[in-house]
Amino acid sequence: MKFFVDTAEIKEIEALAATGLLDGVTTNPSLVAKSGRKFIDVLKDICAVVKGPVSAEVTATDQKTMLAEGRKLAKVADNIAVKVPLTPDGLKTCKALSSEGTMVNVTLCFSPAQAILTAKAGATFVSPFVGRLDDIGSSGMELIRDIVTIYRQYPHFKTEVLVASVRGPMHVVEAAKMGADIATVPPNVLWQMFKNPLTEAGLAAFLADWKKTGQSILD
Ligand code: E4P
Repeated sequence: MKFFVDTAEIKEIEALAATGLLDGVTTNPSLVAKSGRKFIDVLKDICAVVKGPVSAEVTATDQKTMLAEGRKLAKVADNIAVKVPLTPDGLKTCKALSSEGTMVNVTLCFSPAQAILTAKAGATFVSPFVGRLDDIGSSGMELIRDIVTIYRQYPHFKTEVLVASVRGPMHVVEAAKMGADIATVPPNVLWQMFKNPLTEAGLAAFLADWKKTGQSILD
């Protein structure tokens, strides 16, 4: 399973990239607004740190302008994946950009039917939003199960399932059990994944016992 981080904060991306466990980054207009920075500058900084796919979302809603925005964003770096919303214009844009060799991430997917259309449009990634479905009393993980099951029936579908709107480590674990390709995870959730109280307590006990020996491995 690949891990992307869902943020536009370069410091957080640098810290996670340093673990060697980060495969890509996703941003969205809300995350860029939160950063308070110029979009193109943010993207350049991220692409200098992360070599895997970096999602950059268009903000137009008509196909012609989306395509122009997508082409401009794709020029920022070779690893930009242009993010388009799951609308008819978004999928037309997806088809056009994909045929030009640009990676496309189709975002705001909330149903298996939308995921089928996305794969037919040749998207590189589909982003089903699990947390937002849970928020309205629906099951985000059920959607992931459905999409993974459907895509497996059609080996010519090359679209990867990018689990988005992740709220906690259990979303990642459940998605991994279902065979989802990627999870895009907020920085705090990725750090939470390292943690377990038994690891911390076990390490403290090992170190206390080691201290009693008076030895140093490097001496
Ligand atoms: C995905 O690419 C989106 O940026 C993101 O996962 C949205 O998550 P949210 O529901 O926490 O805003």
